[in-house]
Amino acid sequence: GKIAVMFGGESAERSVSLNSGAAVLKALLAQGFDAHKFDPKDSPLTDLITHKFDRVFIVLHGRGGEDGTLQGALTYMGLPFTGSSAQGSAFAMDKVRSKYLFLGAQLPTAPFCVVTKGDEFDCQAILSQLDGKVMVKPANEGSSIGMSEAHSVEQLKAAIENAFNYDDELLIEQWVTGREVTVSILNGVALPIIEMRTSHEFYDYDAKYITGDTEYLCPAPLDAELTKEIQDVAVKVFNIVGASGWGRVDFIIGENNQLNVLEVNTVPGMTETSLVPKAAAATNMDFATLVTKILQGSR
Ligand code: DAL
Ligand code: MG
Repeated sequence: GKIAVMFGGESAERSVSLNSGAAVLKALLAQGFDAHKFDPKDSPLTDLITHKFDRVFIVLHGRGGEDGTLQGALTYMGLPFTGSSAQGSAFAMDKVRSKYLFLGAQLPTAPFCVVTKGDEFDCQAILSQLDGKVMVKPANEGSSIGMSEAHSVEQLKAAIENAFNYDDELLIEQWVTGREVTVSILNGVALPIIEMRTSHEFYDYDAKYITGDTEYLCPAPLDAELTKEIQDVAVKVFNIVGASGWGRVDFIIGENNQLNVLEVNTVPGMTETSLVPKAAAATNMDFATLVTKILQGSR
């Protein structure tokens, strides 16, 4: 059938998506699929019908592509698509609602509070409650956009003000010092864990895409028991938010190997050097095979 590879879009992660989508499209074309670029920034969704597409490969990151809105529209239109359902996408994109699900399922995650635009908040109280150092995150954003660390009232005020440029609701998490790792999920199975080592304060936008100085270790140097525990928790987290097909679950391993679930990404980066392709490569799965498996897992 005819495949629309949807990428680009209008979220803050547009440029990341352009890279991911180009790589996926190239891989599909090289394998003989009838695949076409479809950028929702340039074309109305109804073009999927007029141009008689049979299936959609979603490589849009962030709002409008990864948050369930598109998935809901495609479900309504009766077009099969890759990745998570509307509901799973919506929960995974929303870091605040995700936290409540993690707590409800007794999954290990750092203490937090929520700040909403227009409501009053007390920076001193937030810092005291969260052990003096926090990470401020827009609730619905990706690639670390709008995130900053704060350990004083002035910094927290500035961090909140900055994050409000991206969202009306913010997650403020207690800072966790530790090792950043990620688990890729492909059709229900956890792939080898990757550890990201950065010289930055955390694995931020620059460390992800700009400076090129992040060290990636795959499989992550963790003992067999901890590896299995993290992979099991990752699959559980993925299911708890209602995600399916493929994705990535991010963690920080704190002191005494205490796990901290950060979040689920339902359309993670897909350039040839992105994390999920790196994890697949560690099982001898090349990029083209990965892309085909994601397509086969569509709903
Ligand atoms: N949000 C980016 C694309 C990722 O999770 O890889
Ligand atoms: Mg994310």
